[in-house]
Amino acid sequence: MIEDRPSNPRIRTKISQIDNGLDETLYQHIDKLRLGGYSVDEFQNALAEFCRAQASDPNFSALGDKTSVENQSHWLIKRHIDYCRYSALFYHVAENEAHPPHHHHNVISTQIVISGTLQLREYERIERRDDGRLVLKLVSDRMIGPGDIFQASEWSKNVHWFCAEGGPAVIFNINARGFEDKTFDTDEAAFGRCYIDPTQFDNTGLIITEEFDAERAHELFQGRRLDEFPIPA
Ligand SMILES: [Fe+2]
Repeated sequence: MIEDRPSNPRIRTKISQIDNGLDETLYQHIDKLRLGGYSVDEFQNALAEFCRAQASDPNFSALGDKTSVENQSHWLIKRHIDYCRYSALFYHVAENEAHPPHHHHNVISTQIVISGTLQLREYERIERRDDGRLVLKLVSDRMIGPGDIFQASEWSKNVHWFCAEGGPAVIFNINARGFEDKTFDTDEAAFGRCYIDPTQFDNTGLIITEEFDAERAHELFQGRRLDEFPIPA
């Protein structure tokens, strides 16, 4: 069990509903990233392997079944290590529920589909223009199902958008925030999602978009399949 401590590093555990062995293994990966023992790519590869191993364990998948039945998020861990933080949870996506297109600040996430099918679009952030608008490019548009993984980090596939199709879905998510030294936006940016509209693009496929709040994103995208919105040829 990872003990909370007041210093060096300061560890604060907000939620712990995780098997002790898993807690320790995940902590080792996270702390190796924090101390520079992993590049972000190496960390992502290790987490993908970790998630695949967990998803093939029936006891672990049963936690996802609980999420599905109760139609809610099921948090396993939420912990701060100094100014970094990480979490792991199962969450439920109802049929035709969209997670509207958004980008993230200083988040490294690994997500594995436990059950269901989703359409997923992923984008790269190209630049932030002088007028504040964001320039993006679509890099992936695919259907994903049980065992499939998608990952986002500050400099790779930072932007995504997905919707459950043909029934509900359950996803297991590990999120690490505040671990990257060099960030796309300034350090003052918040960790939460920033919603964008990737549906307008020029003839080279470049998307230029403003950002907006969750309410506007809901109006534009909630309950709508991704295929309703064309992508660059
Ligand atoms: Fe996200």
